[in-house]
Amino acid sequence: MKKLFIKSYGCQMNAYDSARMADLLAPLGYAPTGEAKGADMVILNTCHIREKATEKVYSELGRLKALKREKPDMLVTVAGCTAQAEGAEIVARAPVVDLVVGPQSYHRLPEMIARAARQAGHVLETDFPALEKFDALPEAVSDTGVSAFLTVQEGCDKFCTFCVVPYTRGPEHSRAPDRIIAEAGQLSARGAREIVLLGQNVNAYRGVGEDGKTWNLARLIEAIARIKSVSRIRYTTSHPRDMDDELIAAHGAIEKLMPMLHLPVQSGSDTVLAAMNRQHTADDYLCLIGKLRAARPDIAFSSDFIVGFPGESDADFDATMALVREVKFAQCFSFKYSPRPGTPAAAAKKLVAEPVKTARLLALQALLLEQQDDANRAAIGKTMPVLFEKPGREKGQLVGRTPYLQPLHVQGSRALIGRVAKVKITGLTANSLHGALLAKDLETASMPA
Ligand code: SAH
Ligand code: SF4
Ligand code: F3S
Repeated sequence: MKKLFIKSYGCQMNAYDSARMADLLAPLGYAPTGEAKGADMVILNTCHIREKATEKVYSELGRLKALKREKPDMLVTVAGCTAQAEGAEIVARAPVVDLVVGPQSYHRLPEMIARAARQAGHVLETDFPALEKFDALPEAVSDTGVSAFLTVQEGCDKFCTFCVVPYTRGPEHSRAPDRIIAEAGQLSARGAREIVLLGQNVNAYRGVGEDGKTWNLARLIEAIARIKSVSRIRYTTSHPRDMDDELIAAHGAIEKLMPMLHLPVQSGSDTVLAAMNRQHTADDYLCLIGKLRAARPDIAFSSDFIVGFPGESDADFDATMALVREVKFAQCFSFKYSPRPGTPAAAAKKLVAEPVKTARLLALQALLLEQQDDANRAAIGKTMPVLFEKPGREKGQLVGRTPYLQPLHVQGSRALIGRVAKVKITGLTANSLHGALLAKDLETASMPA
């Protein structure tokens, strides 16, 4: 057996791709290992979204240099979005790298490994090949866990002016619904109870079915909801522009679709939204939130924000704070704007000073944290269905998640792992809820609900 170490950076799509690379290399005799030291193959599945993400990759490559000196036949592969964006520059900067493979070409890894064995020097693949990558991948065999990712859509045609994704992942492309439904079935047969549908613009999903008809995301979710052993469905990440009425209605109609939606808005200022090319206004966003709340009154929202985008004034930032106060988010991610080479915004002249960015980020994060805390506190005293994922650190403890993705701890039988049971929530410590199972679930494991 050869040892394979994969380190994943960035978003859930990279996590999914890493699992698929492990599946792809298993027939070549590669078995996963937990550390780079002594590995025959190391894959860094990289992210390019902000400058810091890219820097991390180069510092990791620095560390790998020493390990490769100990084990000269170690193959070092850089995969993912930095591989796509920087290509040959990576080997120029870090000669320790043997293979560079973009996110749309990793099905060619076995062939690249063979080429690396034959020839001296580096092997690069950063095309967006015509052959669909997914058709070339084997059936998923790696461990799924109770919650499993499933990529249904890749790429982006939106071209927000700050973002590298359209360049690193290529144009929007949707997988065929039949293939996705089959994969969801395989994942659930191997123990997944929650399926998280992934895409850079997942709600722009338009797959062509065997019937020749185009499916939207609402129809795909409906079909996956019919798989009996799937208890929960989520999808991420959505763009406000693609949130159509059918998908909004699905939130009211499909019980397995969880009432938590990640809907990034980035800014609350129309001026900044226009400069970002987000193609919607703050009001459009608020209107969507209203429609979703009408369809599913208990729905909660999360979002991404960028502060300090070029030209962002105090008034623009205040508009972001006002939007946050109006929506009341359950959980959010927020970032300082990071100029990315090759994106239109990187050429902007009116930059926001670093201390101003920092002050805005701190103010926004304080408000978002307060809202997250409010959402967690509001759960205390309620009874919620919880999907149990794994044993906790303490004896007899289980860890699960509420419909709102809040982590929750209870005392209960391990037979509940992979099942949904109702929990009366009694308290909150750090960021985790705790509670007690209802009497009937203490003895027997409930059926998936
Ligand atoms: N497709 C998703 C998000 C992809 S990137 C969407 O459209 O929302 C994830 C998040 O990273 C973005 O939502 C944005 O908030 C942040 N991000 C992207 N580029 C960035 C940059 N140049 N600087 C800072 N944050 C950025
Ligand atoms: Fe990037 Fe915008 Fe596409 Fe999201 S929608 S991936 S932020 S370009
Ligand atoms: Fe990063 Fe690429 Fe995902 S840039 S966020 S790994 S799509």
